[in-house]
Amino acid sequence: MIRLSQVCKRFGAVTAVDGVSLTIDPGERVALVGTNGSGKTTLLRAMAGLVRTEGTVLINGIDVAKEPEKALRCVAYVPQLAPPIDAPVGEVLRTWSALRGRPVKVVLDYAARLGLASVDGVRFRDLSGGMKQKLMAAMALASEAEVLLCDEPTANLDTVSRRAFFEAVDERRSTGVLILCSHRADDAWHLVNRVVQLSEGKVVGDAPVVEATACRSVA
Ligand SMILES: Nc1ncnc2c1ncn2[C@@H]1O[C@H](COP(=O)(O)OP(=O)(O)O)[C@@H](O)[C@H]1O
Ligand SMILES: [Mg+2]
Repeated sequence: MIRLSQVCKRFGAVTAVDGVSLTIDPGERVALVGTNGSGKTTLLRAMAGLVRTEGTVLINGIDVAKEPEKALRCVAYVPQLAPPIDAPVGEVLRTWSALRGRPVKVVLDYAARLGLASVDGVRFRDLSGGMKQKLMAAMALASEAEVLLCDEPTANLDTVSRRAFFEAVDERRSTGVLILCSHRADDAWHLVNRVVQLSEGKVVGDAPVVEATACRSVA
């Protein structure tokens, strides 16, 4: 479903992602782990078509760089940092609904599950970090995308909301792909069946979760 071939990304002198090749099949739930600065966010952003890279990123066989709208139709992304959107939440959700062809109510239901009360008239950028994260997670879940890319999605969430988020993720279709970035491997351990470990932009570990014990202490 996702195929990365020799993906590289440099920012000036820094090589954030250094020749990553990975194949992720339908139904795989992958934890992308590694210390701060190991390249997790950059790699996820490459999969979400948000950063130009060397090498290729294919989703369902479609090149994200060449046909982003087609390739990314089945992708939802929860960023580590929410974009500073000036529009009120209600307008953001109506735009999301028009783009995704899904009702706003589904997002509101997920948001309520994550403990976010009605924030319709509030400017998106004025929400707290945790509220933004809940809303972004609710939109991603409500999209029912086959590929769910989550970048430290629970970093700002309290324990109850974090549990609710993981439960909702767990209810997704069994053929869906999940990629969950975390510098805290324990966070997502019960959800994933594969752990890919990055260090200095390179894949240094890739194992089914039962055999990935060695990665735990490092991540
Ligand atoms: N937009 C950017 N401009 C310059 N350097 C960047 C940018 N994004 C990431 N980096 C650098 O790339 C490296 C990997 O960052 P990142 O992918 O955010 O790592 P992680 O998510 O694992 O913490 C870091 O050294 C970071 O400073
Ligand atoms: Mg990151």
